[in-house]
Amino acid sequence: MNYDIKDTKLAHKGALRIEWARNNMPVLALIARRFEKERPLKGLKIAACLHVTTETGVLMEVLKSGGAELFLCASNPLSTQDDVAGSLAKNLKIAVFAIKGEDTVTYYRHLKSVLAAKPDITMDDGADLVSTIHQAKPSEFANIKGGTEETTTGVCGYGWCGRGVSMRAKGMAARVVVVEVDPLRALEATMDGYEAMTIKEAAKLGDVFVTVTGDINVIRKEHFLAMKDGAIVANSGHFNVEIDIPALEKLSKSKKCIRDFVDEYILRDGRKIYLLGEGRLINLAAAEGHPAQVMDMSFANQALSAEYIVRKHREMKRQVYKVPEDIDKNIAALKLKSMGIQVDVLTAEQKKYLSSWEMGT
Ligand code: ADE
Repeated sequence: MNYDIKDTKLAHKGALRIEWARNNMPVLALIARRFEKERPLKGLKIAACLHVTTETGVLMEVLKSGGAELFLCASNPLSTQDDVAGSLAKNLKIAVFAIKGEDTVTYYRHLKSVLAAKPDITMDDGADLVSTIHQAKPSEFANIKGGTEETTTGVCGYGWCGRGVSMRAKGMAARVVVVEVDPLRALEATMDGYEAMTIKEAAKLGDVFVTVTGDINVIRKEHFLAMKDGAIVANSGHFNVEIDIPALEKLSKSKKCIRDFVDEYILRDGRKIYLLGEGRLINLAAAEGHPAQVMDMSFANQALSAEYIVRKHREMKRQVYKVPEDIDKNIAALKLKSMGIQVDVLTAEQKKYLSSWEMGT
């Protein structure tokens, strides 16, 4: 089996950390138990481009228990946990191509290595596999039944990620400013108790900046020029394009890595700006990403959507589908059950009331 990872000697540590994550992913455990019996992915090759974390390790186990042959590369050059890659390659015999800190050339070589397996199904976080496939000749990937895509990091402005960042910052007693382009969301942010303003205004005020927009050059030259000395800038969107790093480089007379994942830029007028994690998605570049309890649901979606593709691909069209609501509801029900939470059901009278237009006051 081919693989390219940092070191298989890290496998033992990786296996223990994957075990820890597995203990906190009850929905995936239930799916694994069913997959072992039903083997819905038997004989299929799955190419996955995901952050190689302990939680992804658990997803790989689940897909394998469903009968799949797996090929895994990283969905970001900085998010790989090398011990996890070691364990997946050595213990689970998965063809892993991922090394933390790999350069761009290696990153894309790894992506190609995974696609060379001629997968039946692709699984993305950031759409790198599916976009590469769409730039190739259709005949190269004739056997693909479908692909799944999930990106949990960075969804436009005061979306779910922006709300999470704001809430945590408020919890740490920060004065939180939200920058938005959508009036509805800016209003929601205001009603939630944050200050909404333009990036031009915010640039002068902020001590810490976090981009979570999914768009390009959100913080750029004119904003760096307005920032306070010592401002900290980070990105938590999927790609490293939200902060205009080339502009920061041009404005600076020097740059040094002052501690892990912190680059100090000294501007020509002497002000310092600190860029975290090379502007890559900070939660995975400098920490361990979302906790297992959250990824339990994201990855239950990946596993059940792959199963859905296997069962339904013959009747599916060549288009983007949302995850069917049944799958989402099923996962929510399993998660609530695992947390010991029960929900009510509508009475017959309530159901009737909701579906009628005649019953009024
Ligand atoms: N995306 C966000 N957090 C993640 C994690 N812990 N594992 C894999 N993908 C992620």
